[in-house]
Amino acid sequence: MLVIVKNNYDSLSLEAAKVVADRLKKKPNLVLGLATGSTPLGLYKELIRMHKYEGLDFSKVTTFNLDEYVSLPPSHDQSYHYFMQNNFFDNINVDPRYIHVPQGMAKDVTQFCDWYEERIKSFGGIDVQVLGIGANGHIAFNEPGSSLGSRTRIKTLTSTTREANRRFFKNDETVPKYAITMGVGTIMNAKELLLVASGNDKADAIKSAVEGPLTAMCPASIIQMHKEAFVIVDKEAGSKLEGTYVDTWETIIFD
Ligand code: GLP
Repeated sequence: MLVIVKNNYDSLSLEAAKVVADRLKKKPNLVLGLATGSTPLGLYKELIRMHKYEGLDFSKVTTFNLDEYVSLPPSHDQSYHYFMQNNFFDNINVDPRYIHVPQGMAKDVTQFCDWYEERIKSFGGIDVQVLGIGANGHIAFNEPGSSLGSRTRIKTLTSTTREANRRFFKNDETVPKYAITMGVGTIMNAKELLLVASGNDKADAIKSAVEGPLTAMCPASIIQMHKEAFVIVDKEAGSKLEGTYVDTWETIIFD
């Protein structure tokens, strides 16, 4: 695990974008795992800039998103489909046939989840998986208590996660109760992980994920077991870390 502490949100976004761009240049048909939430927005913005002004090419890329709310159609402005389309896919040259976001409206959720797992495998697995982190230590929608070996499935959202999302919906009742999410085991199968976190409200979660005990009560702590994981945080999110960490990945090569 390589932990990188940057001065601010903008520099953490640039650092994360450099990693993705590097992998994409080396492998034009990269299989890219993507996350929603506000944190990766700066990373997506920088990748869009690189596409527009530096010719970064996504035409052969396949994407798999981590999660989606159950019962929200892709046209709903709070669905993760909508979020990804607006904030990323519409602004790069990815082939729509190779975009995958879990289907929150799937009639047979179990069958869909099995298909999603198989589909990831059929592309040779995810090369780089972008991750955010919830203030309670969740990754994707793997809430505390999620099995560390779990696969893509339906999960009930905790009250803290629903409260955190409340601001995006009209009232309490319309905040989704369930989501389809890649499992912790699915995420761990990605060849590289790229977790980004920003702000003081993520400091405890980052401390537990990076330096705490490995526990299902902080699903993000599984990242300690991954062979090639980046954790890129700003000073606020990294403020509770006790170890000494680097401020760039560029000179570092994994063993
Ligand atoms: C949601 C998403 C997660 C994301 C988290 C944090 O719960 N399912 O994938 O990491 O929000 O979002 P933010 O970056 O806005 O704090």
